Amino acid sequence: MVNLGVLVSGSGSNLQAIIDNIEAGRLDARIRVVVSNIPGVYALERAGKHGIPSVVVPHKGLRRKEYDGQLVQVLGAHQVELVILAGFMRIITPVLLRAYPMRVMNIHPALLPAFPGTHVWQAEVDSGVKFAGCTVHFVDEGTDTGPIIIQAVVPVYDDDTADTLNARILKQEHKIFSQAIQLYAEGRLEIRGRRVLAKGFPQAQDSFLINPPAKMFDE
Ligand code: GRF
Repeated sequence: MVNLGVLVSGSGSNLQAIIDNIEAGRLDARIRVVVSNIPGVYALERAGKHGIPSVVVPHKGLRRKEYDGQLVQVLGAHQVELVILAGFMRIITPVLLRAYPMRVMNIHPALLPAFPGTHVWQAEVDSGVKFAGCTVHFVDEGTDTGPIIIQAVVPVYDDDTADTLNARILKQEHKIFSQAIQLYAEGRLEIRGRRVLAKGFPQAQDSFLINPPAKMFDE
């Protein structure tokens, strides 16, 4: 059982997926507190509906490090062990990272290290890539640069827009965030340099994806 603090800034669909997986007994975790930097966001309502304590820590007028100092206090007061950035639209500083070294997880809607930053869906469509996806990673001091825990891949279709691609990726986000947290809860994640190994899984040999689905020439 791992104690989570979930940081949000918006709708909180990833928060909802984590709540649902915990309630269904699939995820061995407890959300001790939901923290938002913005009052009134739907994620706070979701927490309330499930009886989860929530706190608004507004960022206005605070320097980033001061802000993170306040976050550390709130998270500590709720016995948080693992910090989950679920659509938290703030850059994290070393103040939080030193309090939770390799214990802050983020979800990013792209196959990192490609497409870091914001507005990634349009960038993916415009770039012509045939696959996109999402990444859960430990947070380090860079932006979207930390060690990668798990990724999910989705195809990009010819008629995709940023919105249709976003929706396809978001469905996978809702699965892999909980999977990453469960791996952590089970003590199966081993960090070796930039690599995060998930112990105890058979590695599929010769597995691959092709998009568009090409005629097979293998025999
Ligand atoms: C998602 O696109 C996630 O990849 C990004 O922020 C968004 C959060 O969405 N980090 P939600 O608030 O969980 O619905």
